[in-house]
Parts: sequence; C-alpha cells; structure tokens
Amino acid sequence: METREVLALRKRQVLILFVLLRLSLAGLESRRYSVAEENEIDSFVANLARDLGLRVEELSSREARVVSDDNKNHLHLDLNTGDLLLNEKLDREELCGSTEPCVLHFQVLLKNPLQFFRAELHIKDINDNSPTFLDKEILLKISEITTIGTTFLMESAQDLDIGSNSLQNYTISPNSHFYIKIRDSGEGKIYPELVLDKSLDHEEESELRLTLIALDGGSPPRSGTTMVLIKVLDINDNAPEFSQGLYEVQVMEDTPLGSWVITVSAKDLDAGNYGKISYTFFHASEDIRKTFEINPTSGEVHLRALLDFEVTQSYTINIQATDGGGLSEKCILLVKVLDINDNPPEVTMSSITSRIPENEAETLVAVFSVRDQDSGDNGRVICSIQDDLPFMLKPTFKNFFTLISKKALDREMKAEYNVTITVTDLGTPRLKTQHNITVWISDVNDNAPTFSQTSYTLFISENNSPALLIGSISATDIDSGTNAQVTYSLLPTHDPHLPLASLISINADSGHLFALRSLDYEVLREFEFRVGAEDAGSPALSSEALVRVVVVDDNDNSPFVLYPLQNGSAPCTELVPRAAEAGYLVTKVVAVDNDSGQNSWLSYQLLKATEPGLFSVWAHNGEVRTTRLLSERDVAKHRLVVLVKDNGEPPMSTTVTLHIVLVDGFSQPYLPLPELSPDEVQDNSLTIYLVIALASISSLFLFSVLLFVAVRLCRRNRAALVGRSLVPEIHFQDHLVDVSGTGTRSQSYQYEVCLTGDSGTNEFKFLKPIIPNLPVYDSDRNMRESINFQNSFGFSIQ
Ligand SMILES: *[C@@H]1O[C@H](CO)[C@@H](O)[C@H](O)[C@H]1NC(C)=O
Ligand SMILES: *[C@@H]1O[C@H](CO)[C@@H](O)[C@H](O)[C@H]1NC(C)=O
Ligand SMILES: *[C@@H]1O[C@H](CO)[C@@H](O)[C@H](O)[C@H]1NC(C)=O
Ligand SMILES: *[C@@H]1O[C@H](CO)[C@@H](O)[C@H](O)[C@H]1NC(C)=O
Repeated sequence: METREVLALRKRQVLILFVLLRLSLAGLESRRYSVAEENEIDSFVANLARDLGLRVEELSSREARVVSDDNKNHLHLDLNTGDLLLNEKLDREELCGSTEPCVLHFQVLLKNPLQFFRAELHIKDINDNSPTFLDKEILLKISEITTIGTTFLMESAQDLDIGSNSLQNYTISPNSHFYIKIRDSGEGKIYPELVLDKSLDHEEESELRLTLIALDGGSPPRSGTTMVLIKVLDINDNAPEFSQGLYEVQVMEDTPLGSWVITVSAKDLDAGNYGKISYTFFHASEDIRKTFEINPTSGEVHLRALLDFEVTQSYTINIQATDGGGLSEKCILLVKVLDINDNPPEVTMSSITSRIPENEAETLVAVFSVRDQDSGDNGRVICSIQDDLPFMLKPTFKNFFTLISKKALDREMKAEYNVTITVTDLGTPRLKTQHNITVWISDVNDNAPTFSQTSYTLFISENNSPALLIGSISATDIDSGTNAQVTYSLLPTHDPHLPLASLISINADSGHLFALRSLDYEVLREFEFRVGAEDAGSPALSSEALVRVVVVDDNDNSPFVLYPLQNGSAPCTELVPRAAEAGYLVTKVVAVDNDSGQNSWLSYQLLKATEPGLFSVWAHNGEVRTTRLLSERDVAKHRLVVLVKDNGEPPMSTTVTLHIVLVDGFSQPYLPLPELSPDEVQDNSLTIYLVIALASISSLFLFSVLLFVAVRLCRRNRAALVGRSLVPEIHFQDHLVDVSGTGTRSQSYQYEVCLTGDSGTNEFKFLKPIIPNLPVYDSDRNMRESINFQNSFGFSIQ
C-alpha cells in the first residue's frame, strides 16, 4: 500500500512539474471543472468570475473570452453573469473514445492587462451505450462426439462506454447443454466461452438455438444479444461398401437406347447424410461417358448411346460411391457387348464378263469376294448359286470366289442365264445378300439353216403367165445375227434334160419361187429340183431341200377321135347284118383327150341319126349298138353324128360322123351282152358287166386301156322300177368305184354318179367326187417315154 502511494505521489510530482513549466508561460495554475456528457446546451459548468476573483463588470470590460485548445467552441462565457455554459451537447465517446479521463483544455483570455487563465473540463461518462454484437447470428458446428467440458470461444460484444458502464458480463439463454464461462484477456477485456456441459446427439437434436447476452455494468445495466445456432454434426465413421467388387453384365449390341443395363449398389452404415451415397463414374473415358449414364442416387446404369460390337466388344467402368461425408469406395463394372447378327454379308464384284462364247467349257464369268462384319457364326458365310444352272462357284484365294461355266453352253438352247449369287451367314437369324448377274451366251455359227420341210410339192395350173409366183420355201437358222441370215439358191439338177434355169427362178432373200415361162401339162407333168439355204456365218453352213413342181392339168384339149378316122377321103363304113339281134354292137367310137383326170374323161352322146331310135350310143364307152331287131323296112344307109365330150370345166367336145350300112346276113354280136331279162328286173337287181376294150394306135405309142366296169344296181323301190327300167334321173349315191390297176400304180376314185336319159342311152353324169382329195398323180417322170398304161375300172352301184 505504501509503495503504491509513493509511486502515485511521484507521478503527480512529475505532472505538477510539467504544469508549472506551462504555468510559467501562463503565469497561472489550471482550474478544473467537470461536467457529465450529454448535458443540454447552455448547461451551467462553473461561475468563472467567482473562480477567477474578478468582478462581473471586469469580465466584459476586459473582453474575457474562452478559447479551446482544439479551436472548437464547446463552451461560452456569459459576460452578464460570469457563468461558463455548454455551447453544445458533449459526447464523451465522440470526443475521447476509450481514453479516460476525457479532458477538454481551454483558456480564459482577459485584456487590459492581458491575462491567461488555464482551465480543463473533465467530461464524465454516462451509460448511454449498450453492448452490441457484430453478427446477429453465430453459427457453430459441433460434432456429436465432442467431449463434455470442451469450450468454444465466442465472439465478444462491444460497449463504447467506459468503466463500469462498459461490458461487464455475458450470459446465455437457459439450456441443458451449454453454459458461459467469462475469460479475461488481462487487459480489462472479457470474452465469453461456451462450455459443453452435456454431450450432444445429432440423431436426438441436430441443432440448438441459444441467445448470448452481453451486459454492461451501468445502472441500470444495458444489454445486447446475438443468436447462436449450434449444429450438431453427425460423424462419418463408415465408408460406403459395394455389395460386389466386380459387376459383370452382357448386353446385346442391339439393345435400345435408354435401356437399363445393371444396378450397382453400395451400403453405408452411417445415418443421415453420411449414409447417403451418390454414385459416379470414376475416371471414365469419353467413350464410356457417351455410352453409359449412372443415376447418382439409385446406381442404375442406362445406355445413352447404341452399342456396336464391331466397334467395342467390352467396357470396363470404374464406379465410385461417395457418402455425404466424402468417404468413397469403388467397384468395377465389366460390360460385355454380345454380337448379334446385324451385318448382312457383303459381296464385292471384282470383275464380271457378262458375255461368254457358246461351246466353251469352264469359262470365267465373275470374280468376287465376300465378307461379313459380324463375328463368330454371325460372320461365317456360305456362298451358293441356283442348282439348275450350268455354272459353279469355285473358292479361290481367301474369301474370293470365281463363277465359271460348268460345261460348254449352247446359245440356241438358252442364250441368257440369270445367276443369283446368294451369300448367307450362319447367324441367327440368317442374313443373306444376293447379287444377280445376267450372263449372255454369244453366238457361234454352229447351226445350219433348216428347211421347214424336207421336200416341197407345189401345184399350179398349166398355161400360167410367165414369172408367176408358184410358191415359196423357207429355212430358219437358230443361230443369231449374221449366223442366222439365210440366202436361198437353186442347186444344179442331176437331170441333164431338165432346163431348170429357164423354168424356175428363186428370190435369194425371200425364197419365193417363180415360173419363168408358161407350163404345159401335156408336155411336162412334173419336175423336181433342189434348193439350197446358206447362212452368212463364217464359215457358212448350208442345207438343201427337194422341190417337186406338179403341173395341174387345165382342160385345154378337146377330145380327139381315134376311130373311126375322120379324114374325109375315105370315110369308114360299118356293116350291120339285118339279122343282127337287138343290142348288136355296131361299132365303137374311140376317142382320147390329152388332158388328164376329169378333163380326159369322155362321154358319148348320139346327136343325130338317120333313123332315130334304131341305134344307141353308150355314154361311157362309145359303143354303138342296135336297139331292136332290124327289118326289111329299115333303110340301108344310116348316118349317125356322135358328140364326144370331156368332163372338164368348161367341157370341150368334138363330133364324129358314123356311116352304117345294113347288109343281109347274120353276124354274132361283138360281145355277148347279158340279157336284161324282165325277171331280173323284177328280182330288183340288175347286174351289168361291161367290158370295154379301147385300143388306139398312134405313130409313137400304143395306148391300151382295159376298162372293166361292174355295175350293180340295186333299186330300192321295186314298184317304181316295174315298167320303167332305167328310169331317167335316178340318182345313185354312195356307190363304190373300185379301181384295181394292172399297171404299176393304182388309184381309187369315188364319185357320185347320176344315170340320165332313158335306158337306151344310159348317159352318166359325174356329179362330184366323194373322196374330197383328188390327188393328181402321175407315175412317170419322163413324159417322153412311152407309157404302158392299163387301168381297169370296176365299180358297183347300189
Ligand atoms: C455475471 O452474471 C452472472 C449471472 O447473472 C452472475 O452469476 C455473475 O456473478 C456475474 N459476474 C460478475 C463478475 O458480475
Ligand atoms: C433375267 O432377269 C431379267 C430381269 O429380271 C429378266 O428380264 C429376264 O427375263 C431374266 N432372264 C431369264 C432367262 O430368266
Ligand atoms: C435377283 O434375282 C432374283 C430372282 O429373279 C430376285 O428375286 C431378286 O430380287 C434379285 N435380286 C436383286 C438384288 O436384283
Ligand atoms: C396328144 O398328145 C400327143 C403326144 O404328145 C400328140 O402327138 C398329139 O398330137 C396330141 N393330140 C392333140 C389333139 O393335141
């Protein structure tokens, strides 16, 4: 105690010494005044006149003034009273801050004589400021494992007042976990410390709200508050743990976009945020991040791009699970892409020869390669073409194949082949690719022209106009192009007598045949020649055919009477005995016709007679017979005119005159003629046998025809026939004409024949042939040779 007072005394002595030094300047000691801060203006501080021992009047006469050291007029002097008054409200905190004591120095100045009085005004503190915290709220994070007694230094508050008016104490709102401990800095400053009094439990109470109160020592005390928010922190003592360290999944490459791939899952034993796991790809490549995405909360992995086995077969993905406390764990996801057969095989043609020659085996058509981008069976391919084609595939180098012809091909059989190369892979489903090649077989002249017939028979009529088209031949060549161009020609004939070149010409292109001159059936009935057809190939191929020209007869010859001779000098006279029986054969008109066939068939007809009814002429053989017994009354000389007519269209005829003289005497009939007895007529059947012998003599040849005609007439209506034998206009239909030749050839004719006229004349009329085709026929080739020709007709009429 003593020492302290001694020290204080010394301090004061030093101060006094300092003040005395200054007083020596002023000559006066300093007067002390004091006033509380925040006093109103014009508040009384002191009466200066009394303090300085001056009269009030003296103050004004000596112009007393108050001058502050800081040249601010905090004070003024009332010259009437000599009172020193406050010129303004003084704020200690503003004037002096934390400096204590707060002193304003001023002088009182007097003139006449000049005199200074020093004085000081002490400004006393009042409790006009409350403690304040800088922050309205303080956040404190405190782990739940914090041990009891742990202190948390809190922010201190401030109070501008000094001394006991300054900050004195802190308190905290009532709670069960914390209390406040005041810590002194040693310099009069105190700090609040929050002390944990009871352990925290995040799961029970995750946060606390407390109010920290700062108190000053004024009377009454002022206070300031701040909110303290205490978050009770959970502690993260467990890292996430994956259920598997390695996940493996197989995904088809055609899995659609957005498909779920797999779900990875990790567990964290911590609760709350520390147990909350978020999944991420860890150090994933750009490719992985483009292809997959992971849901951070569920751990589901989805596809975000299409997979392509042909590009990437597998992905190794690191997945990290991180909890709310930052602890993490990793796993590996292995995604294997499964190939599906999504690539069809490909065919690349290296070379194609689409035109190959015929008749050549093993010709190369195409070279091609195949490939399939899939793997395994999906990428294994088989290559085939149609079975029914004369082509085959040959594997060559690596995946190359050649398409070649199996055998020599015949363009004429098939000129075009569509080869479909089918390449199939062995995947499921099988994919195939087809490539079509059209192969054309080019022509080689390997076929001769072929005539449409091996031989041609042309008919026409004789007396044709020259240069008449008589027919045409044609040949085809199954080759193509010039190999198929056919030209026709006449070939040299073997017959030296046939003047072919003057008879026939041929159009080389069309094959039309022309008769160069008029043909005469009677001279040349038929002839043959050979024609050739040749193609334009190299070398050319040719073939030939036979053409037979048959001249068709025209009725251009009149009948020609051979007997009796008609040269007027010595007409023939037939002698007939008067005793001749009825039916006596007087004579026979013999005539020929140089035409043929019907045109040469002759019929005879009595045109005129000296005594009509005495003689009859058989229509078909020209026999002249008596019709009754002759008598003395009949004149001796008779003249008959007989018309000989052919069966042509139009018919041609000639007449012959017969001279007959009746003579006395007997004579046998020329030929016995079967009686046409009434009995036989009544028996309703009549058989007539006619034997006609016709002979003619010419200078060059003997022409003999023996005609045997058997006529059998059957009459249907017996009554109609009685008394009307050989009734005119009886038609005989469906009778058979049988021709059996004794010559080298024979021919059958069947005609519808009509018996006209009465029984005496027995005229036949040929109505129409029953066999429709009436071939013209001539057995002999050489007309110059004599023809020994014998025909016998046998025809029965029913
Ligand atoms: C501070 O305040 C508390 C509670 O009001 C009281 O117990 C304590 O004595 C005070 N401390 C001082 C130094 O005044
Ligand atoms: C080949 O195919 C073409 C086009 O499809 C067709 O016109 C032609 O007739 C076919 N040829 C054969 C021989 O099938
Ligand atoms: C190939 O030919 C076949 C049979 O004619 C046909 O079905 C197919 O469509 C063709 N393919 C192509 C690619 O032309
Ligand atoms: C009939 O033909 C022969 C032989 O060619 C001939 O001699 C005769 O003169 C011809 N007769 C007539 C009338 O034309």
